[in-house]
Amino acid sequence: MIRLINVCKRYPGGHQALTNLTFELEDGEMAFLTGHSGAGKSTLLKLIALMERPTSGQLIVNGKNLGKLKTHQVPYHRRNLGLIFQNHQLLYDRTVFDNVALPLVIAGHRHQEVRRRVLAALDKVQLLGKEHLYPITLSGGEQQRVGIARAVVNRPKLLLADEPTGNLDPDLSAEIMGLFQDFNRVGVSVLIVTHDYDLIRSMPNRILHVEHGKLEGDYPRRDRPAANPAEGQTQVTQSSERDATDEEDGDE
Ligand SMILES: Nc1ncnc2c1ncn2[C@@H]1O[C@H](COP(=O)(O)OP(=O)(O)OP(=O)(O)O)[C@@H](O)[C@H]1O
Ligand SMILES: [Mg+2]
Repeated sequence: MIRLINVCKRYPGGHQALTNLTFELEDGEMAFLTGHSGAGKSTLLKLIALMERPTSGQLIVNGKNLGKLKTHQVPYHRRNLGLIFQNHQLLYDRTVFDNVALPLVIAGHRHQEVRRRVLAALDKVQLLGKEHLYPITLSGGEQQRVGIARAVVNRPKLLLADEPTGNLDPDLSAEIMGLFQDFNRVGVSVLIVTHDYDLIRSMPNRILHVEHGKLEGDYPRRDRPAANPAEGQTQVTQSSERDATDEEDGDE
C-alpha cells in the first residue's frame, strides 16, 4: 500500500526532516509511527498525502509512483486517502452532517448518495442522531470521531492519522484506536502517528520508530497483546521487549 525507497526530505531553509527512509506497509496492514517531537512523523504523512514532495527517493502509494503524478492528479490521489489530524480541523460553522459530507460534495456526488454515505459513516463512529448538531456542542472525543467519519466517508483504502488521540483521556483514546482496528479489520490500511506508548504497548500492531528523520526501529506485528499490558516499563524502542512476546501468526 505504501512503499518508500530512500526517501529524503529537506525543507526550504535547509532543515533535513527525513533521511533515507525505506519501508513498506502492506495492503491491509495497520502500523503505528512513533518518535520524538520533530522526528519527522508529520512530514512523512504529508509526503504520502502529497502535501509535500520529497527531495529525493521514491514513494509508491496504492500502486502509484507519487513522483510521476502531475499536479492535476493530486486530488484523485487524495480521494483514496483518509486523513485525520490531531486538531481535527472541523468547520465550526457547519453541522456534523456538513462536515462529514464535505469530501463527497467536493467530489461531486449526488445528494442522495451523500446522505446515504454520511449517515453510514456516522453510524460507524456511533454518532448517528448527532448529524444536525454543531461540532462545538460535542465532546473532544465526539469531535475526533466526526473527523474520523469525514476521513472514511470516501471509503479510502488508506487511513493516515496524526496523533488522533493526542487530546483525549485514556478511555477515549482506546476507543478511538479500537475504531481504527475496526476499519483495519475490513481491509483498510492504517498508519497512525502516536506518542501514546502506554496504549500501543497493549496493541499487537507493528511499530515504526523514527528518530531525527531516520527509521531507527521496525517492530513487527505481535499476534496477541501482552498478557498484562501494564508489565514492562521499557520503551518500545527496546526490541527485546517485543521479541519476547513474538509468537506464531494468527490474525483476527
Ligand atoms: N514547513 C516546514 N518548513 C521548514 N521546516 C519544517 C517544516 N515542517 C516541519 N519542519 C521541520 O522538520 C522537522 C520535522 O517536523 P515534523 O513536523 O515532521 O515533526 P514531528 O515528528 O511530526 O513532530 P511532532 O511530534 O512535534 O509533531 C522539524 O524539525 C520541523 O521544524
Ligand atoms: Mg507532527
